[in-house]
Amino acid sequence: MSPAQEKKNAALRAVNYVHSGMTLGLGTGSTAFFAIEAIGESYRAGTLRDIRTVPTSETTAQQARRYNLPLVKLEDVDQIDLTIDGADEFDPQLRLIKGGGGALFREKLVAFASRRVVIISDASKQVVQLGAYPLPVEVLPGALNLVLRTLNERGYQPQLRLTDRQTTFVTDNHNYLLDLHLGAIPDPEKLDAELHLIPGLLETGLFLGLAHQVIMGQGEGVVVWER
Ligand code: A5P
Repeated sequence: MSPAQEKKNAALRAVNYVHSGMTLGLGTGSTAFFAIEAIGESYRAGTLRDIRTVPTSETTAQQARRYNLPLVKLEDVDQIDLTIDGADEFDPQLRLIKGGGGALFREKLVAFASRRVVIISDASKQVVQLGAYPLPVEVLPGALNLVLRTLNERGYQPQLRLTDRQTTFVTDNHNYLLDLHLGAIPDPEKLDAELHLIPGLLETGLFLGLAHQVIMGQGEGVVVWER
């Protein structure tokens, strides 16, 4: 089974939780893509009605617009009923690394505002310990050198995220991303707290205590974990 099919199987399972009348958080990435596609098609067919959607990135907003899904800003909603999003890694406690697609800040805001967060993935994202995937952190452009120097001094091997054309990657919030090549994160809570103490480092891709459920496509089926 291809990773794409596993992603789609996980996404279709998660979309079973979507009902008319809900405010939905729409994730970002190639896995969330399949969930948005399924939600969009149900909305277009009229089987899903009266929903509002909060996109986690401009790319996701564009996809939602193709289905005429009603988009609202996070500032304009009190609470999100359900968010479906992908992840770059998840561990047995359903802690995540996110931000491979560059949308971690809005993804975290939307997840935090959500009553329920369902993470969908293919089988490659499951890990025993987080950290093999480089940890993205979002940085204020004016603080880049300060943050880079601080992270280098601590041995966190930060690398400025570039686009395919080798220009600096700029987030939807007009900030930069550093990818930390850590190899392993033995204590994610401790690291997250430490990183948040660095001025100019605005947010991390560590999602701790935010995911309620992970649905992972594996082979022809799905495996589900609940926190
Ligand atoms: C976007 O910023 C990320 O957090 C994605 O959710 C994550 O990178 C998973 O992406 P894929 O579904 O494309 O693997």
